[in-house]
Amino acid sequence: MSELNLILLGPPGAGKGTQAQRLIKDWDLPHISTGDLLRDHRERATELGQQAGKYMSEGKLVPDDLVIAMIFEKIEQQGDDGFLLDGFPRTIAQADALGDELDKRGRRLTAVLLIDAPDEEVIGRLSGRRVCSDGHVYHVDNDPPKHPDVCDQDGKPLRQRDDDKPEVIQRRLDTYHEQTKPLIEYYEEQGVLRAFDGSRAPGEVHDHIRATLATLRLEERL
Ligand code: AP5
Repeated sequence: MSELNLILLGPPGAGKGTQAQRLIKDWDLPHISTGDLLRDHRERATELGQQAGKYMSEGKLVPDDLVIAMIFEKIEQQGDDGFLLDGFPRTIAQADALGDELDKRGRRLTAVLLIDAPDEEVIGRLSGRRVCSDGHVYHVDNDPPKHPDVCDQDGKPLRQRDDDKPEVIQRRLDTYHEQTKPLIEYYEEQGVLRAFDGSRAPGEVHDHIRATLATLRLEERL
């Protein structure tokens, strides 16, 4: 069976990370999240982390050249048999670079999974989000951990991301509308976009994506 090369696209807080955690269990794919990779660099105070940190805390995008180099290295290390990209690409330049790289290797995208949700919904979600250092995601009201501020999966402490403060959330949304939303049309034109209503419950969104991917797999075999 051919590899699954997937992208998760959508506004901040639409549920990309939440769905990624479910999808990697279904399909045994590496979850390559630019946000998680950049936060790891920032915590380790690498040169990339120091450069990226100031953009992230202001809700802006990290420059394309830095992100592209980081993600291609990761795909090379982990994504030979398929991948689930979360948070990349986020600009047309990043999408072009990814397309060229896949072409060079004779690979193609299976689908771009757009998880969409209105701004007012994602603002509420991001304000109540809590995460552990391994990237497991909760919400204080919608998806609380069993014990307050402790991750159910690994017992690590939960905390609020520093870009989940109200003024930064609004800037991240503005950045999404200006720089990332044009990718919807870009991938629609390539015939690979599949859209999902991210305002539904996490389990419903997951069922819908899983059914869509299963259908794509069946079509490949016909
Ligand atoms: P990144 O970490 O990628 O942040 P983001 O795209 O803004 O996405 P989030 O992680 O905030 O949201 P999500 O959609 O994953 O939602 P989640 O599942 O957590 O990027 C951070 C920064 O890094 C960027 O601002 C930028 O500076 C930089 N960066 C990253 N990639 C870059 C790139 N390619 N180029 C340049 N710069 C880049 O869910 C949110 C909350 O909602 C949770 O609490 C969850 O429990 C809850 N929830 C989820 N689904 C549902 C549901 N269906 N119903 C109710 N609640 C739900």
